[in-house]
Amino acid sequence: MFPTVRPRRLRRTAAIRALVRETSVAPSDLILPLFFHDALTEPRPVSTMPGVSQLPVSAAAETARRCWESGLGGVILFGLPKTKDASGSSAYDPSGPVPRAVAAMKDAVPELLVMTDVCVDEYTEHGHCGVLKTSARGVVDVDNDATLGVLARAAVVYAEAGADVVAPSDMMDGRVGAIRRALDGAGLTDTAILSYAVKYASAFYGPFREAADCAPKFGDRAGYQMDPANGREALREAKLDEDEGADMLMVKPALPYLDVVARVRAASTLPLGAYNVSGEYAMVKAAAAADMIDERRAVLELLTSIRRAGADFILTYHALDAARWLG
Ligand code: PBG
Repeated sequence: MFPTVRPRRLRRTAAIRALVRETSVAPSDLILPLFFHDALTEPRPVSTMPGVSQLPVSAAAETARRCWESGLGGVILFGLPKTKDASGSSAYDPSGPVPRAVAAMKDAVPELLVMTDVCVDEYTEHGHCGVLKTSARGVVDVDNDATLGVLARAAVVYAEAGADVVAPSDMMDGRVGAIRRALDGAGLTDTAILSYAVKYASAFYGPFREAADCAPKFGDRAGYQMDPANGREALREAKLDEDEGADMLMVKPALPYLDVVARVRAASTLPLGAYNVSGEYAMVKAAAAADMIDERRAVLELLTSIRRAGADFILTYHALDAARWLG
């Protein structure tokens, strides 16, 4: 006990702090989300997410080189199609923005890890993450089982275009199994599945909905995304997706759910990601723009906290800035 024991001895100099540091963040832990818009010829800034732009597919090769040179762990692609319909069928159009961007990125830098988000909300005119059905009593809901085929077709198209990993974010029951069967049936046995296994119905997706043009036109996503109050349910979701064949799991959002990251980490041996989502990003950017916070220190601290909670990798819009700051 004090005065014999003095924890401050190990905090005296930068060298000793570095020696005893428990958690590290490297550029290779970071995955950058990208938005490819089929109707653009120039990047279009996303007003809710300073520093983020929707990109034309023609920018894919150059973006791949930049991410590779920055040492990032990879990228994850979202698409904004020219046309939307009730079932989100443009999600599996082989000439849509995501398959074309994947192919261009893999042609430019074959070594770059390219993931694709798999969901239909950017492709449906109503903005929900699935096909709709109306009950006899007139209640409209997302039809879980009818959505699985659309998701599986999209995953196959992205894998055929060259995606290394497909990442379903829709929260339909049974979609990991449906996607695994479809990939294997198409001979795509080497394509990995990163499941957004634990995805909460969160206010922190707000800014993304401009970036991906996917705000639901009516209602909300509480009938398929998880209740923010639930922790045990996260373990149930993670276990189901693992049993269905997920290769990696993810918790989303990250910062308000670090306890969930830690619990899933303890309950599963699969690699675990966390998504530092658009609202978490926008808050830091707004505070920094108002001179209320030191952006660089804040970003490196929050990325460290996500790793400390147990995430192996982090999806974050700060990826390129953080990679530069990490050197
Ligand atoms: C749905 C999807 C969303 C995000 C990623 N995939 C939006 C939602 O579920 O409403 C949010 C990502 C972010 O906020 O950064 N396809």
